[in-house]
Amino acid sequence: MIQKPRGTQDLFLNSAAEWNAVEEKFRKVLNLFNYGEIITPMFESKELFVRGVGDTSDIVSKEMYEFTDKKGREFVLRPEGTAPTVRALIENKLYIPENLPYKTFYIGPIFRYERPQAGRYRQFNQLGVETFGLDSLNHDIELISLGDSFLKELNIEKDIIVQINYLVTGEERKKYEEQLKKYILSIKNICDDCQKRFKKNVLRILDCKIDSSKVKNGPKMFEFATENNKERLNETFRQLKEMGLKVEIDFNLVRGLDYYTGLVFEFKNIKTNQAIIAGGSYNNLVEELGGPSIPASGFAIGLERIMLILNEQKIKVVEEKEIELFIIPLSEQAQKLTNKLMLEARRKNLKIDTNWNIKNLKNGFKSAEKAKAKNILVIGDNSIANNQYSIKPQLTGEPVELKYNQIISYLKGEK
Ligand code: HAM
Repeated sequence: MIQKPRGTQDLFLNSAAEWNAVEEKFRKVLNLFNYGEIITPMFESKELFVRGVGDTSDIVSKEMYEFTDKKGREFVLRPEGTAPTVRALIENKLYIPENLPYKTFYIGPIFRYERPQAGRYRQFNQLGVETFGLDSLNHDIELISLGDSFLKELNIEKDIIVQINYLVTGEERKKYEEQLKKYILSIKNICDDCQKRFKKNVLRILDCKIDSSKVKNGPKMFEFATENNKERLNETFRQLKEMGLKVEIDFNLVRGLDYYTGLVFEFKNIKTNQAIIAGGSYNNLVEELGGPSIPASGFAIGLERIMLILNEQKIKVVEEKEIELFIIPLSEQAQKLTNKLMLEARRKNLKIDTNWNIKNLKNGFKSAEKAKAKNILVIGDNSIANNQYSIKPQLTGEPVELKYNQIISYLKGEK
């Protein structure tokens, strides 16, 4: 038997419906926050991520699904959504002053060759948010509260904590990196990856699964931050707390992607210790990828990790629409009329069904029961000849006698 690739999922029946419902909730919240959707290709030039995300990141150095097309061009299945959004912003000149601030969101599959485990897949989906042309305390707070509003919309309130930090930049970053390097040189045995990180982006060592604990007692990034940035982080913390978020400052929070320049944050599931939402500001990326200098920030939500929490906390998102009418046709003529009636009803937005395999009344009722319809209608040649249709509401069990042209208005509650 041919099986799905490792680290991927098939979604069907209720899980597919829940999935779509979560996406719809995301669209709803993003619409309230006045963001517009962007749809970009699932594969992009490899160079976009090497330059955009950084070749010291695990994502780029080890996890990309790479391929060469027939003309020898190097492409990858997108391993994240920020660099593609920036590429689209630049390529389509979406950064023109009339468009700014530009606030956008995306939904779609992301591919990373990671070791699969619960909540970690090789194809997963991100609900992502990016903003361009905004850089302020109020924007930081609005962005984080957007993530929180989405979780509230799904009734996910338990076991989530928001961790925030502010990465130092410019001269302060250089000073901090110097001190951190000195400290690291005094520790022996850092892993192979961290030796590379040491040269290319030493901050990433704080995020290493193997070595991060060794640098915990080293110099603290926050001590190198400017007074303004310290105040901005503290004020972000205070205001989010006042808004009722469970928030904490984590001075060692750095992210696995190289482009972050200031605020970084994660919404963590404290039960699994996995980030379900992660992001921050990346004020240099637009310029680095060939666009103008525009501040930017955003985050991405792991849809599979949201689904895991919904399952675990037994939260149902999908509002299932009941079938208004199930028809049991008992003759060829009745089947023909059923098709006509169903078409007319569906055009009026009524959910209506039958089962073309019905052979007799007994298995007709079995099918109807399975469909859990609100009303059942048996159609035989007699009902057609007399224009008399007996609809049985399942709630009362009391049959309602109708003419053919009364059926739809009855189902719509217009009678
Ligand atoms: P990231 O932290 O790499 O950031 O991923 C964001 C979220 O995607 C994670 O918090 C997690 O929920 C989900 N995720 C990551 N890897 C996996 C996986 N293997 N399986 C399932 N879910 C996963 C980014 O991708 C940035 N582009 C976020 C961002 C947007 N920053 C600024 N704007």
